[in-house]
Amino acid sequence: MRVATRADEAAVVDVAYQTAYFGGPAATFFPCRDAFAVFWVLPYLRAGRAMVVETDDGVVGYCVGVDRRADYTRGLLPLLPGLLLELLAGRCRGWRGALRYGLRALRYPTRGAPGSAYPAHLHLALSSAARGRGSGRALLTAYLAAATERGVSGLQLSTTERNAPAVSLYSSLGFEVWTARVSPLWRPWTGRDETHLVLVKRLTVPGG
Ligand SMILES: CC(C)(COP(=O)(O)OP(=O)(O)OC[C@H]1O[C@@H](n2cnc3c(N)ncnc32)[C@H](O)[C@@H]1OP(=O)(O)O)[C@@H](O)C(=O)NCCC(=O)NCCS
Repeated sequence: MRVATRADEAAVVDVAYQTAYFGGPAATFFPCRDAFAVFWVLPYLRAGRAMVVETDDGVVGYCVGVDRRADYTRGLLPLLPGLLLELLAGRCRGWRGALRYGLRALRYPTRGAPGSAYPAHLHLALSSAARGRGSGRALLTAYLAAATERGVSGLQLSTTERNAPAVSLYSSLGFEVWTARVSPLWRPWTGRDETHLVLVKRLTVPGG
């Protein structure tokens, strides 16, 4: 396990794109890989924090996040002109499906926890072959320890009740439910409403 570098971007996008749909391929709900990378992964590697798990097979998992929401925006904005150019040049395959998801996400938002108490957020994923060996717990534990060292006061993340392994891991490391909201966002893909969870954790600031 180590801190990620820019050289890990392609591998992290690979793992993310293979896992973002309840642990399965993101192409199911978001068929535009370039736009997925821009919104879900690259801002964290460019302006946030990122750790990866690497084996002989390469990078098989990551934990990425930002300590403040503004850091995500700072990472995202420089990426948008390039994505727009790709779109205008007709090179953004799957953009219609991606737009469909984006419009649904705007229509069925789940409000996050207050940034004043929980300024940081994170994402965590392991490729399917790497799961169940303790790497998820090790990554998240290390990420939380580093965030505590940096003086982050609190973290939030979102997941769904359907994602039982993730909920179990987060609960075991002290995350609590801030919001549980039944949402139709995923209905076109899962065929039912899903319970969207916002989980939060306060961190103890060293010396605080
Ligand atoms: C959630 C995830 C990160 C867990 O990583 P992992 O390396 O498989 O988990 P670990 O082996 O470190 O196990 C840590 C804890 O996760 C939970 N867990 C892991 N696999 C589980 C399973 N199949 N069922 C229920 N709980 C499970 C348990 O609480 C486990 O603790 P325990 O071993 O003390 O019982 C991994 O399953 C994953 O990447 N899933 C797909 C992507 C994803 O859903 N990310 C989270 C998005 S919010």
